[in-house]
Amino acid sequence: MNQQRQKPHYSMCQGFLIPMGFPVTCFESGLNYNAQPEDNFIVTYPKCGTTWVQHIVWMLNHDGEPLPVGKDINLEVPHLEEVGAEFVAAMPSPRFIKTHLPFSFTPYCADAKYIYIARNPFDCVVSFYYHTKGFVKHYNFAEGTFNDFFECFIEGEVDWGDYFEHLLSWYDHRQDDNVLFITYEAMKADTPKHIREIANFLGSSYLDKLNNAEIFNSILKHTSFTSMSQDQSRWSSQRPKEMTPFIRKGEIGDWKNHFSEDQIARLSDKFRNKTAGTDIAMLWADLIPN
Ligand code: A3P
Repeated sequence: MNQQRQKPHYSMCQGFLIPMGFPVTCFESGLNYNAQPEDNFIVTYPKCGTTWVQHIVWMLNHDGEPLPVGKDINLEVPHLEEVGAEFVAAMPSPRFIKTHLPFSFTPYCADAKYIYIARNPFDCVVSFYYHTKGFVKHYNFAEGTFNDFFECFIEGEVDWGDYFEHLLSWYDHRQDDNVLFITYEAMKADTPKHIREIANFLGSSYLDKLNNAEIFNSILKHTSFTSMSQDQSRWSSQRPKEMTPFIRKGEIGDWKNHFSEDQIARLSDKFRNKTAGTDIAMLWADLIPN
């Protein structure tokens, strides 16, 4: 007998599905934030390594100190659509701001900087599934299966919309001077190189800090998966005990433990169709099916 497909619950705002409990007024005002020349945005589709890079930039800005327990990364490097424009505008400059918006919706200033992190869609959907299942108050999807979530993801019926539209919107700008486009997988393959790249992009004063081995080593240590798995209240609100932790596995290829043959074929097809005429497949050559 066919079991009815479960769907996560969302609110709707300005054409975006957003997690229930996100203040709609903040989301709306976030879209209208007036980006400033010294602003630094960390931009991702959900589950592509946002928190990892939030912590890297926070530590760069705090001379290698890790975010202490009791602080919340989403207030320190706030999520624009969650806290709204007023909160962000009141922060001291230079600001570090998180957003999940596609390019055309992201507040733009030619002198602001944008770090975009992309992750392959196969691992992204798995990570997004556990995220959506775990934040019960936001999505009411505790009983949802991976198959249920996969259908929503492949239709683009999830918060912040279609993965491919998001990726394509920023990929088009990957060579802009004020955009640093990196992948989660490349960061995992060579983390020190990417921490340097991020610091270099932010400016020479950040890069100079990395000449201090103590600062560099501290950033490497405290932004590792193992360290960030500790004291997770720093990264997210609490999830029910039976759910996976927010910093979950941090692996490349966990999708192989979740996808059916049919799902592999369907997401591969969508990947091919959506990215035709671009080099996006090269970002993940050998990692995902073709
Ligand atoms: P998994 O669910 O695959 O483990 P975001 O911060 O955008 O929500 O992304 C969350 C994903 O990044 C999760 O993936 C999480 O485990 C992973 N992640 C977070 N910190 C990490 C780190 N320091 N190193 C590697 N992966 C990390």
